[in-house]
Amino acid sequence: MIRAAVIGGSGYIGGELLRLLWMHPEVEIMAVTSRKYEGKRVEVVHPHLRGTGLRFSRKISGDYDMLFLSVPHGESQKIIEEYMGSVKIIDLSADFRLPQDVYEKYYGTHERPELIDRFAYGLPELHREEIKKADYVANPGCNATAVILALYPFRDMARDAMADVKVSSSAGGKKENLMGMHAERSNVVRVYRAWKHRHEGEIFVQTGVRCPLTIHSVDIVRGVFATVYFHADTNEISLYRRMYEVYRDEIFVKIVRERNGIERYPDVKYVIGSNYVHIGATYDAESRRVILFSAIDNLIKGGAGQAIQNMNLMFGLAEDTGLKYLPLYPA
Ligand SMILES: NC(=O)c1ccc[n+]([C@@H]2O[C@H](COP(=O)([O-])OP(=O)(O)OC[C@H]3O[C@@H](n4cnc5c(N)ncnc54)[C@H](OP(=O)(O)O)[C@@H]3O)[C@@H](O)[C@H]2O)c1
Repeated sequence: MIRAAVIGGSGYIGGELLRLLWMHPEVEIMAVTSRKYEGKRVEVVHPHLRGTGLRFSRKISGDYDMLFLSVPHGESQKIIEEYMGSVKIIDLSADFRLPQDVYEKYYGTHERPELIDRFAYGLPELHREEIKKADYVANPGCNATAVILALYPFRDMARDAMADVKVSSSAGGKKENLMGMHAERSNVVRVYRAWKHRHEGEIFVQTGVRCPLTIHSVDIVRGVFATVYFHADTNEISLYRRMYEVYRDEIFVKIVRERNGIERYPDVKYVIGSNYVHIGATYDAESRRVILFSAIDNLIKGGAGQAIQNMNLMFGLAEDTGLKYLPLYPA
């Protein structure tokens, strides 16, 4: 059994980690921290975890083999060294995803740049062999995961790519803010960031494409949907052929191409509750425009599920152990 511990267990990703780890057949949860809820049962903040018997502590104590750090960016780099040594670590923040110069362009000064090279980038579809050998993994951002998986097969032809990304409310974490209040957040289709979103750095490092992102907040609780545009001389069959070639053996990448039925292009609605990414494409010959689509559950393939996929690789388990559930429907 893998003995797991979670730091930052009171957040949305922390809660999702606990839910998925609880159901994982090879994992025992040894400890989960929250400073705010120290000593309290987890259902105080995660009512869906009632019955697990888990309780928050302020610090981790006891033995464990696998640590998930689920704290805001900037915080991991302050606390991580205390835990480096005999355990494997997956950091879900942005702190170790990027080379120092790219990190500092988007996030400001890095306090521990000498540690960055010790981390593998935790996107299994691109870095599986590195992750298998790694002790430390930096889990990708949710928007970055959606865009990179769509763009990667076309990275040689998508020089002028740009993406429109629609994000759910849970992608922003649990912190309280006025714009997150029900009266302000429900029914929105709002520009969250028009340009220079931080995940552009990850997309550039992973694909070589400088792909500007425009991020919209939309009225869903879970999910990220990316639409990527670029110009090329191609056709739809070639686009799909490339996607099939790159992702043929990938368990969690599903290519959507339907003429009938209710999901003709990827749709967030049909990935919710799962570790799957649905990708698809179309082509307009007149404008020479390729349009790619990508849908994920931000808390699973965009966060906790992908972290568990990485943990499975780090411990030599089948990659889909504990992740074999299909999406919820209807959701
Ligand atoms: N939400 C998503 O869709 C998503 C997807 C991918 C990656 N991520 C990343 O995953 C991380 C967690 O995201 P989230 O959405 O769960 O955020 P969140 O809801 O804001 O939760 C973060 C948790 O970290 C704890 N924390 C903060 N500073 C800490 C410190 N110095 N030491 C220990 N614990 C600390 C807080 O718990 P206490 O105050 O109770 O201790 C808080 O509940 C972030 O880096 C985020 O960018 C999020």
